[in-house]
Parts: sequence; C-alpha cells; structure tokens
Amino acid sequence: MQIIAQQAEIAHICGAWREQGHRIALVPTMGFFHNGHLSLMNAARSRADKVAVSLFVNPAQFGPNEDYNEYPRDLEKDLKYAEKFNVDYIFAPDCSEIYPMVPLTNIGISKLTDIFEGKLRPGHFEGVGLILIKLFNIIKPDFAFFGQKDYQQLRIIEKMVEVEKYPVEIISCPIVREADGLALSSRNKYLTSEQRAQASALSRALHTAAELLKRGKTLADARAAMTEILHEVKIDYIEFLARENLARLSEYQPGGTVILLAAYAGGTRLIDNIEV
Ligand code: PAJ
Repeated sequence: MQIIAQQAEIAHICGAWREQGHRIALVPTMGFFHNGHLSLMNAARSRADKVAVSLFVNPAQFGPNEDYNEYPRDLEKDLKYAEKFNVDYIFAPDCSEIYPMVPLTNIGISKLTDIFEGKLRPGHFEGVGLILIKLFNIIKPDFAFFGQKDYQQLRIIEKMVEVEKYPVEIISCPIVREADGLALSSRNKYLTSEQRAQASALSRALHTAAELLKRGKTLADARAAMTEILHEVKIDYIEFLARENLARLSEYQPGGTVILLAAYAGGTRLIDNIEV
C-alpha cells in the first residue's frame, strides 16, 4: 500500500490502471477509521480490481463553530488498518493541495441539502459535494462506496451523480454497529461513559419504532415510543421520510420508509436511521 499526497500523482496512477482495464473503487473518508470505514474498504475490495481510499478532513464541510480543529485524527493507525484491508492507495492530501484558493464553485446539489442535517449545518452538504466532485475528477472511480449511517449524505450524493451525470456507480453499505446497537462514528470518542450508555437508546428507539410500524401502528405511535425510549438524551429531530427522496410521510409506507434520528448525548450530536 502506498500513501500519496499529490493529486497529479494519484490521477496518473489511476489513469494507468484504467488503461490496463482495471475497475477502480474509491472510498472517501475523513480518517480515524473504525469498523464502519473498514466495511466500506472490504466491500470495495470485493467489487473492484483497485481500491483507493481518500483520507482528508474536509474543511469545506465544517461550519465556523464546528469541530474541524478537534476532529479526531490518527494517520499512523489508519494506515495500519488500511494495509490489513488490502487497500492499494491512500490519497491523503494537504489542505493546500485540494484548496489552493478559496473555492470558486458553489455546488447547488439539490433541495435535499437545506433540510435535517443541512438545516443545522448550513453549507455542510455543499462542502461534501465540493470535495466529492474533486475526488471523482481526480480519481475517476468506477465505484464509490458510502455508508448508510449518513443517510441524507448518501441520498444527496446519489442525486448529484444522477443529475450531473458523473460516470460513477454509488454503492451504499449497511450501518456497522457496536454490540449494544450504537452506530459506529468517529465522534463517539467524545462520549463520557455515562453518555455512551445513554447513546444506545438511539438504535433501540429506531428498532422499536420499526417493529411498531410493521405491526400496523401509526407514525404518531412510533414517534411517541421513540420519545419515551430517548428520554435520557436530547432529541434534535425524528423524521419519517420516503426512502427515495426524503419527503416527509403522513403515513407509513411499507418498505419505502426511513426514520432519521438526531439527538445529543451531552454535547455530542449523534445521528442514526433505519429503513422500514
Ligand atoms: P466519514 O465520516 O469519515 O465517513 C466516511 C464513510 O464512512 C461515509 O460514507 C460514512 O457514511 C461511512 N460510515 C461512517 N460510519 C459508519 C458506520 N457505522 N457504518 C457504515 N458506514 C459508516 O462521511 C464522511 O466522512 C465525509 O462526509 C466524506 C464523504 C468523506 C466527504 O468528506
């Protein structure tokens, strides 16, 4: 496995792979790998001939009061993990390599960017779109792998690729969880042990709601049950949405519903979701 910091170099390598007929997978990440990231690398490995993982904490997707500087980083450990998963190349550029000047382009991805996570974090998904367009242009992957953990991000990327006609297949991978159901996240390390215990309520609430809906209960019943289970954390939102376009639902659509949940355990904001 090699680590590359220059975009010209990784573009050249990927170009040579393409000429040799190799199919290339890209796994975009911000590092501090956990099993969620590793599951994407694993899926990429089994789908493509060559796997490139990008490791870049993207300043464009952090708001002025967000945790860009504190965002956890551990390059050495990350490289060891990636090596184990037979990643071919890690693309780990500096900020100045990706953003030599203030971004000139403004990505209007779709209406999906201003709701839910985007409402709380103005500009966040535009920043995500910006880095992905750059990565797609540099690496020109056949496949790009994303986790369902960031459900709205996934839908926005799918839409962007569809509308802008990027020749890349977006592949979504299931959420990897701790034994008690907590979805793995780099930000879980901010949790104290008490908050960590409280955080397991998120997945419990989602599973309970899913069961209730499947048994014929209403969205209001499901919301009430979730609110009760989540009494130790501070709920930011619970949304019952259509899976394909994240439109709000007035009633449960079997097989076509996703529940998005955001809540604070202490000061740490956690997100989770379930498709029903
Ligand atoms: P990051 O938070 O590092 O996540 C990288 C990828 O790992 C994303 O596709 C995310 O959905 C996936 N992931 C995170 N936790 C997961 C879990 N528990 N199970 C399965 N997959 C999980 O998301 C980003 O980085 C950035 O926004 C990025 C797309 C790299 C653009 O900068």
